[in-house]
Amino acid sequence: MKKVAVLVSGGGSNLQALIDAVKAGEIPARISLVISNKPEVYALERAAQAGIPGVVIPTKNRSREEYSRQILDKLQSEEIDLVCLAGFTRILAPLIPQAYPERILNVHPSLLPAFGGEGMYGLRVHQAVLESGTKFTGATVHLVTAETDRGPIVCQDIVKINDDDTPETLARRVLEIEHRIYPQALKILAEGRLKIKGFRTWCQEYYK
Ligand code: GAR
Repeated sequence: MKKVAVLVSGGGSNLQALIDAVKAGEIPARISLVISNKPEVYALERAAQAGIPGVVIPTKNRSREEYSRQILDKLQSEEIDLVCLAGFTRILAPLIPQAYPERILNVHPSLLPAFGGEGMYGLRVHQAVLESGTKFTGATVHLVTAETDRGPIVCQDIVKINDDDTPETLARRVLEIEHRIYPQALKILAEGRLKIKGFRTWCQEYYK
């Protein structure tokens, strides 16, 4: 059983999708820690309801190195195997992916590598997607490397953009995709079935 930590900053609907999939026996893992960088977020309430310990590690007014070091210390002292970023809005210093190579997942609300990078999170992503005029968007789950939003892609799926979409309506439909593909990606990683070459990944069962 892999021990998983989930990092959050907000509502935690992706955290909930992971909790539900683990509870349903779909993923051979145990979510044993939730770390939030903000104290009053609903994600912490979700963790408490599921009986998962939640800790707050503030990022505000601290250097990236400083908060990342504290997060890494916590992950290591709890002997965490895999890490899921689920709506975590701060960038982690490279020391974390270096300590957890190919063992950290992130969910992003666009078809990466488009519309990613520093400062691209939440509704800002959907606003940029709409302004670009693209006809499709989607969600991506990828491995976290030192380069923001550019690690190997594990799962991805698309959403068609309607003429009357707003960032909010798009966010709702993309979120549904996120909730479906994030548990799939964690399952593949936890089962050790992910093959990686450069930016490409394969999982026999998923892509057959
Ligand atoms: C999700 O849409 C996630 O993809 C996005 O924040 C939202 C968190 O929702 N993350 C990013 O934009 C990261 N760059 P949640 O708290 O309900 O899971």
